[in-house]
Amino acid sequence: LCLCLFFILTPGCGERVVDKEQVSPDEKIVIKFSHVVAENTPKGLAAERYAALVKERTRGRVEVQVFPNSTLYKDGEEIQALQSGAVQMIAPATSKLAGEFPQWQIFDLPYVFMNEEKVHEAMNGYIGVKLYGGLRQNNIQSLAFWDSGFKLITNSRKPIIYPQDFNDLSFRVMINSKVLKKQFEKLGATPVEGSFDDLYRALETRAFDGEENTISNICTKNLYKVQPYLIVTNHGYMGYVVLTNAAYWNSLPPDIREVLESTMAEVTEWERQQALKMNKEGLEMVAQSGVTQVHYQTEDEKREWMEVLRPIYTEFSDVIGRDLISSIEELN
Ligand code: LMR
Repeated sequence: LCLCLFFILTPGCGERVVDKEQVSPDEKIVIKFSHVVAENTPKGLAAERYAALVKERTRGRVEVQVFPNSTLYKDGEEIQALQSGAVQMIAPATSKLAGEFPQWQIFDLPYVFMNEEKVHEAMNGYIGVKLYGGLRQNNIQSLAFWDSGFKLITNSRKPIIYPQDFNDLSFRVMINSKVLKKQFEKLGATPVEGSFDDLYRALETRAFDGEENTISNICTKNLYKVQPYLIVTNHGYMGYVVLTNAAYWNSLPPDIREVLESTMAEVTEWERQQALKMNKEGLEMVAQSGVTQVHYQTEDEKREWMEVLRPIYTEFSDVIGRDLISSIEELN
């Protein structure tokens, strides 16, 4: 009897473990999508577009409720909220996954990706298999990979051109990434972890001198208005992984899941175009604003930075994985 019960109660390979929570055929499905940036960013706009298309294509059966600007959960809270079922979708910057999933710091290695195409190629190949696989083992399902773009560096104190210009300056870094901290340490600055929702206030009150970000965030949060110096380094890629709770996702009716997934794939293409466009237009706007002095890093200057930063690759090769790092090197 004990053996029989064991086989009845223990789910086999590939079976759903959440059958009891399966959504009934006519039940309305609400998906809470929480994120930390402004509405008029590539991520914010794509989340809204996704919600509108899903509503239309499921004839209102699925409602994606988007919560921007950290109104629901902020940095450091999102992943737990997803795991506990408080929200069903999040799209954190990859660096923020590093607490539980250190391999994701691969994106934080300085100058590691040449352009967005290389990033997408990596995520469609070996690197993606490894990174997404690690999430899945923890009941987190990735649905898409969205671009924010390449990061630039802003500060309130002085023009930065060479690594030695970082001396005595402090920079906010995204939470959880040891690679990002190390990057500023190597440059001679002091890194300070900070939550995105507090970034504008912290810069305005000079809690630290500068930060690194993509131009869409620098514009939509008005960071450039309190940061008179900007250097276009494109030294690091910032992307978002759209995540859901795997058990939740598997509990959805298959036809609904299919609509949600195909719509996500379509919106992903749109989001990437949007990111390219907004980053280009945003930089032009900031350069013309007269508020922020913009310097474009030259190839010679970049070589100097690389010399200082390159040891990070070796220092973090065990954490990130030698196989992943060599895979990028092959790609490049
Ligand atoms: C940041 O914290 O600077 C960014 O990750 C915000 C975002 O999600 O783009």
